[in-house]
Amino acid sequence: MSVQPSTHVIDDIQEVLISKEQIEAKVAEMGGIISREYEGRDLLLVCILKGALVFMSDLMRCISIPLSIDTMAVTSYGASTVSSGVVKIIKDLDVPIEGRHVLIVEDIVDTGLTLNYLVSALKNRKPASVKICTLLDKPDRRKAPVTPDYNGFVIPDKFVVGYGLDYREKYRNLPFVGVPKDYVWNEEH
Ligand code: IMP
Ligand code: MG
Repeated sequence: MSVQPSTHVIDDIQEVLISKEQIEAKVAEMGGIISREYEGRDLLLVCILKGALVFMSDLMRCISIPLSIDTMAVTSYGASTVSSGVVKIIKDLDVPIEGRHVLIVEDIVDTGLTLNYLVSALKNRKPASVKICTLLDKPDRRKAPVTPDYNGFVIPDKFVVGYGLDYREKYRNLPFVGVPKDYVWNEEH
């Protein structure tokens, strides 16, 4: 029997792990903390595409101090849910970061391989500081010594989608973070 694609992405979700309201409250709180801690500094938010797109766009509007933004795209996973450990920069920053306070905005720290690589790559460019801000932290799967400086939610070892996070490029548009139904892993592409 062939599986028909769902009309609405929400139909493929088994469980909402973090609701829209919970995310909204947490992001506002994080924005407030970042605004206080970076006051008077030249803050550059670096969005790691594409997963952090949604988080970054909400977060930056909860930060009240002057800031600039830039984007980077890297791969560590390919199309699979298992990390290869290989990190490649697909799109680099547009601006130099020497002397600036860089805050990397990422959707999730899983193995930590991506951020471990990125932090050291960016530190080589002599910024005033490099810190990490993530929406989600999955500490059970850590392989590299990465601890986010700002984190929204610690989650169990489950593959999650929504609020920017994808499975095979789908589900980024869900307004919450959830766990897909089992049949999603078996869909043909
Ligand atoms: P790490 O290098 O293993 O920490 O992986 C980081 C990247 O893997 C994230 O930026 C995500 O794009 C992806 N990733 C890790 N866990 C999940 C998940 O549960 N759902 C969706 N993407 C994930
Ligand atoms: Mg991804």
